Amino acid sequence: MLLLKDLTYHPAATPLAILKDINLELAPQQLGLVIGASGSGKSTLLEVLAGLAQKSAGKILWRDQELSPDQLQQLAGLVFQFPERHFCGHTLLEELRLGHPELNKERIDQALAAVGLGHLPLTTSPRSLSGGQQRRLALAVQLIRQPYLLLLDEPTAGLDWSMRQQVINLLTQLKKQWTLLVVSHEPGEMVSLADRCWTLNHGELATVDPSIFVPPHQRIAAQVELGGVS
Ligand SMILES: Nc1ncnc2c1ncn2[C@@H]1O[C@H](COP(=O)(O)OP(=O)(O)OP(=O)(O)O)[C@@H](O)[C@H]1O
Ligand SMILES: [Mg+2]
Repeated sequence: MLLLKDLTYHPAATPLAILKDINLELAPQQLGLVIGASGSGKSTLLEVLAGLAQKSAGKILWRDQELSPDQLQQLAGLVFQFPERHFCGHTLLEELRLGHPELNKERIDQALAAVGLGHLPLTTSPRSLSGGQQRRLALAVQLIRQPYLLLLDEPTAGLDWSMRQQVINLLTQLKKQWTLLVVSHEPGEMVSLADRCWTLNHGELATVDPSIFVPPHQRIAAQVELGGVS
């Protein structure tokens, strides 16, 4: 269980806090969705949770234990916005092993299989993959470290409909095993997967019911998927 208590991030250089007294609770195997406009603080929130930026006040707890940035780096895996722009391996194998030369073939095969790329030769160039495949590879790069918490920054941005479906289907699968926190500037299709939903407005988080974003024709399908209609 991830618990944020009055989390504030206010770097000295900025006149106003970027994240203000954020309270949030996310259980294992849940997908939380934070929706906010550009500049509302979404990426900053993920950076703080990934241990890449140091909070100014408040608490970040995992299973009732307060975590330091170092511990957060171990716990969480952050997939950046447009992760394919950061690929630097020449092959899938290189990309997955970056910073982890000790990883054995089994772990690599497992991570690729988990994102539906198990059929590709390890010599494939990441750049030769489709947009949806590249996003899935970026997820595999994090999954291979076996984080408890997956943090995803705009995972479907810039993808066409069918590639977005690939990513949504994958997140549906990953949710069964991991805790996922997704940030996005619009509710989009991600809302149908969300167990918890919040809006972020100038660094202030507010809870919303995800069903308000789901178009009426999709509501029944989403309820059936969640086991809500008998
Ligand atoms: N290290 C920093 N120092 C000063 N200001 C920062 C820093 N990081 C982010 N900001 C500011 O904090 C605010 C939130 O930025 P952030 O990147 O988190 O927004 P976002 O919601 O992810 O936006 P987008 O949808 O465009 O990606 C912005 O006003 C930004 O200029
Ligand atoms: Mg951002």
